Amino acid sequence: MLTIALSKGRLAEQAIELLENAGYDCTAAKDKSRKLILEDEKVGLRFIMAKPSDVPTYVEYGAADLGVVGKDTLLEEGRQLYEVADLGFGRCRMCVAGPVELMNGKLDLIPNKRIASKYPNITRAYFEGVKKESVEIIKLHGSIELAPLIGLADCIVDIVESGRTLKENGLDVIETVADISARVVVNRVSMKMKADEIRPMIDRIKEQVAKL
Ligand code: PRP
Repeated sequence: MLTIALSKGRLAEQAIELLENAGYDCTAAKDKSRKLILEDEKVGLRFIMAKPSDVPTYVEYGAADLGVVGKDTLLEEGRQLYEVADLGFGRCRMCVAGPVELMNGKLDLIPNKRIASKYPNITRAYFEGVKKESVEIIKLHGSIELAPLIGLADCIVDIVESGRTLKENGLDVIETVADISARVVVNRVSMKMKADEIRPMIDRIKEQVAKL
């Protein structure tokens, strides 16, 4: 039996579709009830429906053998696990964004910046690790774009998908931090102990991704 942690929502739906195309019967996972554990003993699969940011935790501790989660969450959580496949969907960018006046190098001129983000670890790693700049990070939980508009922060670090939220609020991308997409992660012990089940699954998933 393999336990797979899915990120509740769109990523879970796309992951289930991909697994079905890879030849795995995921009827159990398509249950529209509010059950959080969906299991099919005959098929040998158990799905747990988790909050996206918790998926790496379930996988690191071995509560799930595998997980499907966005690269943004993996970067932010920094868990000990194997990242084995890029699924190619859930594509977006992690960006530094702010008022258009701060584009073209102007942001760099602001000392001791305040940066709002749902991703404080990614923000710190980028500004302090990559740009060697010390910054004040303000953690928010949503509608991050509000922060520079209302004077809470100079800029933000957030996910940009279509760019519409930024545009409609007079903001723009200043720098790209990372390309994001859905990834398959595997528990380090499961990778060895359940290699007979996990390795063929990874191969079949990769074959499907190559067809997309
Ligand atoms: C995400 C992200 C941006 C928006 C980007 O927010 O934080 O606000 O989507 O998408 P776009 O480039 O296509 O406009 P989400 O919808 O997850 O809500 P949140 O503000 O509560 O984080």
